[in-house]
Amino acid sequence: MTDLLARSENVWQALVPRLPSFTVEVLPEIDSTNTELMRRARSGLLDPVLLVAERQTAGRGRLGRGWHSRPGQSLTFSLGLPMAPVSWSGLSLVVGLSLAEQLDPQIQLKWPNDLWLQQRKLGGILVETATHTGNASDDAGRRLVVVGVGINIARPEAAAVQPPTSEAGAAVAPVVPPAGLAEVRMGVTAGEALELLAAPLVHDLLRFEASGFAAFRSRFARLDALDGQPVRLSDGTEGQAQGVDAEGALLLQTRDGLRRITSSEVSVRPC
Ligand code: BTN
Repeated sequence: MTDLLARSENVWQALVPRLPSFTVEVLPEIDSTNTELMRRARSGLLDPVLLVAERQTAGRGRLGRGWHSRPGQSLTFSLGLPMAPVSWSGLSLVVGLSLAEQLDPQIQLKWPNDLWLQQRKLGGILVETATHTGNASDDAGRRLVVVGVGINIARPEAAAVQPPTSEAGAAVAPVVPPAGLAEVRMGVTAGEALELLAAPLVHDLLRFEASGFAAFRSRFARLDALDGQPVRLSDGTEGQAQGVDAEGALLLQTRDGLRRITSSEVSVRPC
């Protein structure tokens, strides 16, 4: 039995008392764990599920980007959980916070939910929701949250990192090589990381469902890598990051005043 399979079994045992219909699956290969759970949700499968893949052939990132990870040297999984919170604001921040707190005290969050280690990206999160529109009346209004997580376990080599390119193919930004969890947790495996993260993530999501982002705001502030930093948005706006508000929006002090930035709009970089 692979390490990932054995650790997934431990995750199932830890969570099934809290989530009786919970299942765990480990696949050698799939296009994308998020895409698969969204497909299943559309066909009416809304039970809690953890889907782990050793390899993704079409991994997806935020803002329509791809997500490339190296088999055996990264952890890729999606957690599907039916939820009905009063407000969805701040959900993706809670996911990043939950993971960062479990992984290592050196890990910070780059709003909205990138995991950062020493100013480099360690992992990313893609949160999507699906509503089943089938005929069964007991499914009406149920929504499945699909939380996709990709974490580098080994530190990716600089040569393996493709710089973003313009349409003409010229590099548009210098590449900062990503970080790997093994830099701070020597010898860690993807299975160990999964076992460390999955149950606390479910518990934090259930707490979010009951209490919203307010219950997490001060915890987020402690790990906020951008707080007080000059930043530039992908739409060109520059300002100083001033933490997040009660809904999880980034507060940006610009020349024209304080702006609230919500995670779906833009990407943010320190400058
Ligand atoms: C980002 O930083 O842009 C988010 C990356 C999210 C990647 C994970 S890997 C597991 C899950 N399946 C996907 O296709 N994407 C997420």
